[in-house]
Amino acid sequence: MDTMPPRHAASAEPAPPAAVAASAREVAKVYGSGDTAVHALRGVSIDFPTGEFTAIMGPSGSGKSTLMHCLAGLDTPTSGTVRIGDIDLTDLGDKAMTELRRDRIGFVFQSFNLVPTLTARENITLPCDIAGRDVDTAWMDAVVTRLGLTDRLDHRPSELSGGQQQRVACARALVGRPAIIFGDEPTGNLDSRSSGEVLSILRAATDEFSQTVVIVTHDPRAASYADRVVFLADGRIVNELRHPDADGVFEVMRHLDDAVGPAGTDEGR
Ligand SMILES: Nc1ncnc2c1ncn2[C@@H]1O[C@H](COP(=O)(O)OP(=O)(O)OP(=O)(O)O)[C@@H](O)[C@H]1O
Ligand SMILES: [Mg+2]
Repeated sequence: MDTMPPRHAASAEPAPPAAVAASAREVAKVYGSGDTAVHALRGVSIDFPTGEFTAIMGPSGSGKSTLMHCLAGLDTPTSGTVRIGDIDLTDLGDKAMTELRRDRIGFVFQSFNLVPTLTARENITLPCDIAGRDVDTAWMDAVVTRLGLTDRLDHRPSELSGGQQQRVACARALVGRPAIIFGDEPTGNLDSRSSGEVLSILRAATDEFSQTVVIVTHDPRAASYADRVVFLADGRIVNELRHPDADGVFEVMRHLDDAVGPAGTDEGR
């Protein structure tokens, strides 16, 4: 573990009810220090209710990936509290964190993170294989078929197109039916048909299996599959839309882009 400054007393806050699949309280993340410090998150508090599909949007550099990584226990907040269910991640040691991630969380990375030496099939079943869980082959077949991967399963990532690699990463996150699925731009490299398939599987995960889904997207149409869209700008939540439609999302994004200057700098703050 890297050394982090002491956190706020997490136990001072009441735990959210069990119907919340994940939550953040006053989460801040600072990369670097002094003049070059980047305040990626500046105090984010949000609940992700069980069985709900949330889309996170915002300009490049607004902190979307950082927030998802903190929520999924892949990165540590500088201050604040993250919970998965009622488990406070700041209390967990490395081993317990690894097990929690393995057993409860599926993650689709912005850069896919496939294992280059494994075939698509082996990449998809990897989380189950590591956890020693049987793969539900009927479910795996259904996911692979819907994502159009059936005849690519024996290929390695280097032999797949970017969009196919992205769909393998989505299949990997879905096959173990984790309680919560995080997708960092899971449709960023897909054409509209494949994108629709990924989004409708994620929608079905919430509607039919009460899984909780959180995705980052830049696409208003993708966001319109969600129950709610949360908008980040400059490390803060600045807006939220329930039951979004693509036009409404597009309007909010347009105003955000107008309001926010060049991303990723700390000038004038
Ligand atoms: N490991 C790191 N070290 C230093 N700065 C970082 C690191 N990771 C992210 N940042 C900075 O933190 C800010 C937020 O980054 P983040 O990746 O969360 O943005 P994002 O909203 O996901 O952007 P995008 O839409 O481009 O993926 C950016 O200014 C980025 O440069
Ligand atoms: Mg990102």
